[in-house]
Amino acid sequence: MQAFSSNPSIFVFFKIRTHMSNTISGFSKLSKSDKINWLLETYFSEQDQARTLVESYWNTDDKLQKLHDEFIENTITNYYLPLGVAPNFLINDTLYAVPMAIEESSVVAAASKAAKFWLERGGFKAEVIATEKIGQVHFMYHGDVAKLKAFFEEVKPILIKDTAAITKNMELRGGGILDIELRDKSDDLPHYFQLHAKFETLDAMGANFINSCLEQFANTFKREALLYKAFTEEEQNLTIVMSILSNYVPNCVVRAEVSCPISELKSKDIGDPEAFAQKFKQAVTIAELEPYRAVTHNKGIMNGIDAVVLATGNDFRAVEAGVHAYAAKDGSYTSLTHCTVENDRFTFWIEIPLALGTVGGLTRLHPLVKFAMEMLQNPSAKDLMKIVAVAGLAQNFGAVKSLTTTGIQEGHMKMHLMNILNQFEATTTEKEQLVEHFKTNVVTHSAVVEAIADLRK
Ligand code: MEV
Repeated sequence: MQAFSSNPSIFVFFKIRTHMSNTISGFSKLSKSDKINWLLETYFSEQDQARTLVESYWNTDDKLQKLHDEFIENTITNYYLPLGVAPNFLINDTLYAVPMAIEESSVVAAASKAAKFWLERGGFKAEVIATEKIGQVHFMYHGDVAKLKAFFEEVKPILIKDTAAITKNMELRGGGILDIELRDKSDDLPHYFQLHAKFETLDAMGANFINSCLEQFANTFKREALLYKAFTEEEQNLTIVMSILSNYVPNCVVRAEVSCPISELKSKDIGDPEAFAQKFKQAVTIAELEPYRAVTHNKGIMNGIDAVVLATGNDFRAVEAGVHAYAAKDGSYTSLTHCTVENDRFTFWIEIPLALGTVGGLTRLHPLVKFAMEMLQNPSAKDLMKIVAVAGLAQNFGAVKSLTTTGIQEGHMKMHLMNILNQFEATTTEKEQLVEHFKTNVVTHSAVVEAIADLRK
């Protein structure tokens, strides 16, 4: 057997591998090319082909590539998502072209179509309702709860004072720690208590700020407990379990809305606006009542939300977790959007929690995030909350409009057609001919495959 690298440390890994199948230790310490060598050797039969593929996604600008390599550990190449743009979003009388990073073929087209539809009907209205974020220190305390409460009141100013170095700049800008509460959770889990803290982090998403404050609270709380004379030894020895922000932010909420007289809904695809409005409302009511439908309904909303969150360098997993928890906040999972058809008016709105940042994190580092922010006229976090909520509402409007009129597949399959054609490496002429053909024929995977075969006969 031949070792696959001139690097002696690789030889050691190689030997280990022969004994322990495909496990490896110290992988993160290997150079990028040795990581790739190991992967190719271990998992790929066509190694040259796999190497060419991985390398073809490297940026030719070494500095730019290094920047991306260093975002995470063990980077071997880049994973592209298309960055699309949905123009014509009129939000509170400002026009935006909205950047969207997403792989799903029909999302940007649907957002653009909904933006244009509402542009002609007064646009979107959006308002931020609240911007409070939450973090918790979870701890175990064995003892007299009254004494713990008295201790907390004494220690609270010290918790705030000890974080001064962390909060100084945030406070200068008008943010910081809003409050800290002691919460008794011992009915849920014996001896379990929390420091439940509220923060205002302004234009920062605030994860680092909040977590640093919480870890300082935990250290101070533990230190002061050990010195608190009224505690018994057991009470002094409370245990900090963990300190972490919560991605559930029910008081960091934005509302976006569209509204128009029912008659103005009339358009190319909406012949009978009254019937459309009623059916649209029924579809939203179904999503409010029926969790199976609500999940898919909200998934469509997240198509728009995640795409903008991702394009602007924000944490879409945090947003997803928080939004779905909010959708279930009253005990059963329900729609994030709502609709009324009253007094000849159609009104459709969304209310969602969004913890977003427009400074710090990737927003400073990723050149395309900077580009996306400039496209959005360098929004504040509050402005971005409005834009993202509107993207979700527009996406949902597009989906429910299609579902209650033509059905979703018509639009989907048109976009899907291009993906299938690319999969079969159709030439430009073949694409033109097949797009023409499918203007009058139903797009299914097998129909496209057959049509390509016919054309190539
Ligand atoms: C597909 O990605 C999203 C939809 O299923 C959303 C919906 O059903 O409302 C079309």
